[in-house]
Amino acid sequence: MADSRVNPAPPADPGSDLHLDLRPGRGRRAALMDALRDAVRSGRLTPGTRLPSYRTLATDLGLARNTVAEAYAELVAEGWLTARQGSGTRVAARATPPERGPVRRAAPAERPPRPSYDLRPGSPDAASFPRAAWLASARRALTAAPNDAFGAGDPRGRAELRRSLAGYLARARGVRTDPDRIVVCAGFAHALRLLVPLLDGPFAVESYGLAFHRGLLETPARATTALAIDEHGARTGDLPATTARAVLLTAAHQFPTGGPLHPARRAAAVDWARATGGLVLEDDYDGEFRYDRQAVGALQGLDPERVCYLGSVSKSLSPALRLGWMVLPGHLVDEVLAEKGEREAWTSVTDQLTLADFIDSGGYDRHIRRMRLRYRRRRDQLVATLAERAPHVRVTGIAAGLHAVLRLPPGTEPSVLKGAAWQGLAVDGLAAYRHPAATTPVQDGLVVGYGTPPDHAFPAALDALCRALP
Ligand SMILES: Cc1ncc(COP(=O)(O)O)c(C=O)c1O
Repeated sequence: MADSRVNPAPPADPGSDLHLDLRPGRGRRAALMDALRDAVRSGRLTPGTRLPSYRTLATDLGLARNTVAEAYAELVAEGWLTARQGSGTRVAARATPPERGPVRRAAPAERPPRPSYDLRPGSPDAASFPRAAWLASARRALTAAPNDAFGAGDPRGRAELRRSLAGYLARARGVRTDPDRIVVCAGFAHALRLLVPLLDGPFAVESYGLAFHRGLLETPARATTALAIDEHGARTGDLPATTARAVLLTAAHQFPTGGPLHPARRAAAVDWARATGGLVLEDDYDGEFRYDRQAVGALQGLDPERVCYLGSVSKSLSPALRLGWMVLPGHLVDEVLAEKGEREAWTSVTDQLTLADFIDSGGYDRHIRRMRLRYRRRRDQLVATLAERAPHVRVTGIAAGLHAVLRLPPGTEPSVLKGAAWQGLAVDGLAAYRHPAATTPVQDGLVVGYGTPPDHAFPAALDALCRALP
């Protein structure tokens, strides 16, 4: 880690001893960065030296505090400086200039290290996969399975699983269905692949979301429409003004900004679908993980004929299982089955039977409860660490799910991401999730997935995150 390479710091803050010549003709930030680089190259600033605070240097040089903060962040990103909450910004060890010879003009290191920590959203804690309970379910399920279970699979999915899911989804997520409306699939993305050829477009999507999913809804001739997002979620009241025939919503927990869709917005989505014959595709990717109050029920419960509910075990158990489900309006069931083909071609029957047993035996509920506690602890650890080490960073979207959004000052996201890469940290910025046609104001932020690292690596990942923050 960068800090272990930093020499012990001289005791005194250089403060007003730091004389910098800001060359005219450059922007203020660029001039400050040049001056700091020169000071390091010339050896006036030695490795480990603590730089003045933003405020002190800004006052000394007559600059805005933000200008200094941005220059420091850029130089951290380039590897000249290191930043650590509590010990300030220091000259990096690797920024040492050669003792003799000509002054180097090139940046000291061109490529960040391979990431050692992963705080990207997307995956649950793989180390917590319930191996023993899953094995026990597999043993029971395979022992009890009739011989025909091992023939060519039914494209609907095994009846045992569809029955278990109908009960579980009604109980835990407020989904209204019977097993005949459920079609098993290989996860949410597969569900989209099956549905898109059957539906009339164009599609509307939230203005922040996964580009991969958006791509599945688009063709070269048919872009998606971006629904603006605010603190109440997607502005579904705008749907009537669009040409969309279907809309994809993460109603329980907007991905990635966080927050449930406001009840009035849920109603507006369903009203629009009823009035226009449109369809809502509900992506319930992590609805079970809600920490501070009761889970928000599925939108599908408002109108099972106009909302297609899509879920999978990718967040609750593992994305490697490739096991998901579609709860379909009646008119779509046969069409989806025809699209799937005569046999089950994607999802292993033994996994389906195992999941059915896992749900019926209470193993799934136990696992969810255990993981909810674990993720909640991680979320609390993230929030507490930031409150202590980066109190100026606002954390949002923390009531649910496996990720949070750290709000950054406007314009700083790219440099913070670069800084994170130099800290060996893989993390995403909000920009990666923004729809190209979004009209929602640009938001700078980091999308921090706290589910992925194993427990032992989590504190070090948080440490790297704090060092990367402005
Ligand atoms: C927004 C969102 N939707 C859905 C999913 C699940 O996708 P899949 O079931 O295809 O793994 C994920 C990732 O787990 C996700 O982040």
